[in-house]
Amino acid sequence: MNDKYSDKLEVKTKNVINELYLKILGRPADEDGFQYWGSLLESGKITKDEMRQEFLNSYEYKTFRANKTIKIKSTIDIIKFNLSNIDVLIEKIKLSHNSWKDSKSTVYKYTDYKTNVRDVINSVFTNYEFPKYDLNQLHVHFAQFIKNLESKQMYSKYRPYPIEYSIENDSGLLLYLICKILKPKKVVETGVAYGLSSSYILQALHENNQGKLFSIDYAFKPWESKHMIGSMIPENLRYRWKLIYGTSSKKLKPLLNSIKPIDIFIHDSAHTYNNMNSEYQTAWNFLIKDGLLISDDVGSNNAFYDFTNQKNLKPELFSQMNENFQKYYKEHNVKTKTFLGIVQK
Ligand SMILES: C[S@@+](CC[C@H](N)C(=O)[O-])C[C@H]1O[C@@H](n2cnc3c(N)ncnc32)[C@H](O)[C@@H]1O
Repeated sequence: MNDKYSDKLEVKTKNVINELYLKILGRPADEDGFQYWGSLLESGKITKDEMRQEFLNSYEYKTFRANKTIKIKSTIDIIKFNLSNIDVLIEKIKLSHNSWKDSKSTVYKYTDYKTNVRDVINSVFTNYEFPKYDLNQLHVHFAQFIKNLESKQMYSKYRPYPIEYSIENDSGLLLYLICKILKPKKVVETGVAYGLSSSYILQALHENNQGKLFSIDYAFKPWESKHMIGSMIPENLRYRWKLIYGTSSKKLKPLLNSIKPIDIFIHDSAHTYNNMNSEYQTAWNFLIKDGLLISDDVGSNNAFYDFTNQKNLKPELFSQMNENFQKYYKEHNVKTKTFLGIVQK
C-alpha cells in the first residue's frame, strides 16, 4: 500500500512544487513540503506566484543564498591565497581533480582486518616484548588542547581543521607501540594537522632516547597557518621533531635523499590515489630492510591495495571504526570504514 501524500496530488501541482523547490531552494521537495504546499495550491488558498514569493521570503532561501555566497567567496579566497604560490595552486587543483576521479571508481573492500592493537602488534612482530606504557600524561595534554580548541571558531587560524580529521586514538597507540618495539632512528610522516600522530611517535622516541621524526605538511587555505601545524605536540617532545613545510610532492623525495635510509614511513596527507601511490613508491625505495610503510585511510581508494599487490606484500589492516569515528560519520551521514594499513619491506 502506498500512502505517500505526494502520490495523491495532481501531476500539475506536483510539478509546480518540485519546480519551485529546485529553482529557489536548490533541492527536491520533501513529503512535508508536498503536503503543506499541495493542500494550499489545490484548495486555491494560494497561487503559484504567491508561493514563489513565500519561498523568496523564507529563512531557508536566505540561508541557502548566504551559504552559496560563502562557498563562492571561500573558493575565491583559496585561489587568491595560493596565487602567491602557483605550484601549490596547481597541486591543489590536481588533488581536487583526483579526489573527484577517485569518487567514481570502485574501491576494494577489505574483510581481513584486526580490530585490536595487540593483535596487530602480534602479527607484525615476532620475538618481542610487549612494551609497558603509561600515556596518561599525554592524554591529559590532548584533552586540554581539544577543550581549548573547541572554544575557537571553525574555520579560523586557531581551528583550521575539524579535530575529527586527526588520527584516531587507537591508531596513535599503535604507532607509539610500533616505535617502542622497533626503536627507529628515522621516521617520516606526511600529514600532521594538529600533530596527534606526531605526538604519539615522539613520545615513543623520547622514551627510547633515540630517533627523530620528520613531518611534512603545508597550510593550503587562507585560514590555515604554519603555526597550527603540530601545535598539539607537547613542548617537551619537540626536540626530536622537524617540520618540513611544503607539499609532499615537492618535499618528500628531497627529504628522503638527505636523511636516507629511514625505518618507518607513515602516509596521512591527501588521500587521493595518485598522491598515496606516489608517496608509497617514493618512500619504499628509502626504507631499510624490515622497515615499515604505514598508511592511514587505505580504504579511501585502491592505491594501497594495488601497491601491496604489485609488490606481493601481505598487509596488516587495523580497523579504526571506534565510537568517535562512528559518531562523526553518523552526524555527517558518511558510510565508511577507515583502515590503517601496514607492510614490512
Ligand atoms: C588527516 S590530516 C593529518 C592528521 C594527523 N596525522 C593527525 O594524526 O592528527 C591531513 C593533513 O595532511 C595535510 N596535507 C594534505 N595534502 C597534503 C600534501 N599534498 N602535502 C603535504 N601535506 C598535505 C593537510 O594539510 C592536513 O594537515
